[in-house]
Amino acid sequence: MVTMPKRFGMFVHWGPYALYGWQEQIRMRRGIGRAEYARTAAGFNPQKYDPEAWVLMAKEAGMEYICFTTKHHDGFCMWNTAQTDFNIVKTSGRDVLAELAEACRKHGLALSLYYSIPDWNHPCGYNSLSTHQCEPEAGDTPDSEAYREYVRAQVKELLTGYGPIYTWFWDIPPKIDDPSMNEYVRSLQPGILINDRGWSEGDFSTPERSVPDGDTFPRFTEACQSVGAQSWGYRENEDWFTPAFLAQSMDKILLMGGSYLLNVGPDKDGMIPERAVQIVRKVGQWYQAIREAFSEGVIPSAVLQTGAAWTSNRENTWYLHTKNSLISSGLSLAPWNTMPKEAVLLNTGEEVECIVETYPEDYTGTFGVNRPAVLHLRSLPVSDMPLVIRLIF
Ligand code: GLC
Repeated sequence: MVTMPKRFGMFVHWGPYALYGWQEQIRMRRGIGRAEYARTAAGFNPQKYDPEAWVLMAKEAGMEYICFTTKHHDGFCMWNTAQTDFNIVKTSGRDVLAELAEACRKHGLALSLYYSIPDWNHPCGYNSLSTHQCEPEAGDTPDSEAYREYVRAQVKELLTGYGPIYTWFWDIPPKIDDPSMNEYVRSLQPGILINDRGWSEGDFSTPERSVPDGDTFPRFTEACQSVGAQSWGYRENEDWFTPAFLAQSMDKILLMGGSYLLNVGPDKDGMIPERAVQIVRKVGQWYQAIREAFSEGVIPSAVLQTGAAWTSNRENTWYLHTKNSLISSGLSLAPWNTMPKEAVLLNTGEEVECIVETYPEDYTGTFGVNRPAVLHLRSLPVSDMPLVIRLIF
């Protein structure tokens, strides 16, 4: 199993689209022209931005890194770039990325950078081979090579001006093969991990809003999901996911060896919506309680995967993860049939009552096969969050 060095992170989608409170791609999805969008973006002046509060919230949830949208498809830059005036320093006087990098450094979190390849503001940016494009406007001169020059200049600013960067998240494959782009990224930060949405393959996969089938990921994988179903950026009327749904997805992704990047969308003032804070807190409390089940050396196992639980183990220590919400307070663990030395519900730290049910030698009963003994867990609590039970044999 191949696992990324850090298992849980916070994705942050933040840009002038927060002023609209709808969705980060509003310019394309609602047909807003460049000049009109720029007029709105000019009012982006987040007065309540407090990166330390974001970092502490992530840290409390057990997250080890933050992945920040430096530039989304709208082309607006969230750092002090010399390559365009369409940036946050021009509208607010603050380099919000620099402040975030400093808060991460202070509290020991790693920083990752998201960078959109589509750019609806750059006159050379339009790429007919790719998706997520706004039609060129009068005077635009689509030119892939010229645009890549611009990207390289920005990559250089981002990878030389903000300290060590953990991962680099290209978004939206340009469908043009150019391995030199990743080579350039790596030349500036040799240890960086690069995702698979750029000009060449990259180091890790990025399933989005989905939980892939299977037992393990064949290579580094970072799955991303947002606390809301409608948008990655701030949305006034968001459909919030339940913490149980998110924790169940995250549990399966982590079991398969992946990492989980959970997104929040701060509002125009820089505040993460209260509901998002609560969701992250709930998922984080769950994760903090059970995270030893994902420590080094624990590997998924095929046993019991078709029943009510997934299992993983490190030698004689087994972790049982309930798949969905339990439908009763007991769990039958056939084909296991011996008493564990210890059984603890990691969610609460409490001991779990175990019995080995015995049956007559020739009994097949509900099992369909002869099982003279079956390990049975009892008195499990009612909970929507996945339960993780540590059994030591
Ligand atoms: C998609 C969307 C984009 C979002 C990203 C997150 O690619 O186009 O809006 O930033 O997913 O993974």
